[in-house]
Amino acid sequence: MGLSFDKIDGAAWLTFDVLPVATPVSESERATRLANPGFGRVFSEHMALVRYNEEKGWHGARVESRANFPLDPATAVLHYAQEIFEGLKAYRRDDGGVNLFRPDANARRFRNSADRMAMAPLPEPVFIEAVEQLVKIDRDWIPGGEGSLYLRPFMIASEIFLGVKPSAEYIFAVIASPVGSYFKGGPAPVSIWVSENYTRAAVGGTGAVKCGGNYAASLRAQAEAIDHGCDQVVFLDALERRYIEELGGMNVFFVFDDGSLLTPPLGTILPGITRDSIIALARDSGAEVREELYSLDQWRADAASGKLKEAFACGTAAVISPIGTVRSVSGDFVINGGAAGPVAMGLRKQLVDIQYGRAPDPHNWIRKVI
Ligand SMILES: Cc1ncc(COP(=O)(O)O)c(C=O)c1O
Repeated sequence: MGLSFDKIDGAAWLTFDVLPVATPVSESERATRLANPGFGRVFSEHMALVRYNEEKGWHGARVESRANFPLDPATAVLHYAQEIFEGLKAYRRDDGGVNLFRPDANARRFRNSADRMAMAPLPEPVFIEAVEQLVKIDRDWIPGGEGSLYLRPFMIASEIFLGVKPSAEYIFAVIASPVGSYFKGGPAPVSIWVSENYTRAAVGGTGAVKCGGNYAASLRAQAEAIDHGCDQVVFLDALERRYIEELGGMNVFFVFDDGSLLTPPLGTILPGITRDSIIALARDSGAEVREELYSLDQWRADAASGKLKEAFACGTAAVISPIGTVRSVSGDFVINGGAAGPVAMGLRKQLVDIQYGRAPDPHNWIRKVI
């Protein structure tokens, strides 16, 4: 079965060959695996694959049974970490159909990531087609209720060569993992540790793109957060070590007593799609949203004076997590009495209702796959 689609970037054409798994998982076994999937440990049955080399460009697009990648020990990605990825979700609507949320934005960010990492740019329609094909064939793996199918597109440098240079070959793949509701019984406020020993990104570095190396470099700081009894780490800017940047895997917002919101400006942080969506929704409701530097000292002072009403983190996985407690070597402070606030909760509901197709979609963010 082949599915062709329109011209890509005015040059290439791609057809995905769809090769369904020979022996599908039984319905009862699937139900068992979907009952309590947690995050990132249960996988659907297929994957999408597209290969790149300099001679053929992007080619060999297919959807097939999920399987190991045989990798020569000298494969470039294993040595110099030329790797990028994305994260987005497919949501089951009440009418049985399936929504993707802003896959075009993930495709664009993926291309930007490829550009920064000197990797072959994947045409955005190929990214979207790969994701859609996988969602269609693995639709039965989308949990109901507040669960979703987490999609993980990624690209690795697959040339077998030990020289330090951009790879001449790449593998793009998409895998899918059914996930439960991130927080059972509603989002619990998180505690965060301010990392003053480690930074995440410097001007001119790779902080604004989604490469695996960023996450490897954040793990020590995240471990330090856990050691201090916190859920997550928040990073400061690398230059002055004063300004709040973002969490290990989420952007951050602050809500003030005049109803305005502030979020750190783009530059060294990841341009989150949830961040962008929250800015739009907050502005739709008439709130002022500033993209400005905000220092740890100011944060502490505003929490103490009552000027700061709420703080929350946001990203695809958890949508919005209220921040209840902030810990650092220079002392701890609590926000909104450690409880979830109405602005965070209201924005969260608005966003989730759009994602699941329960509310109108004024910005055309939803792409109905089924
Ligand atoms: C470092 C970092 N910041 C922010 C985000 C949030 O981005 P998004 O809203 O696109 O999921 C993520 C998650 O992908 C991330 O890894």
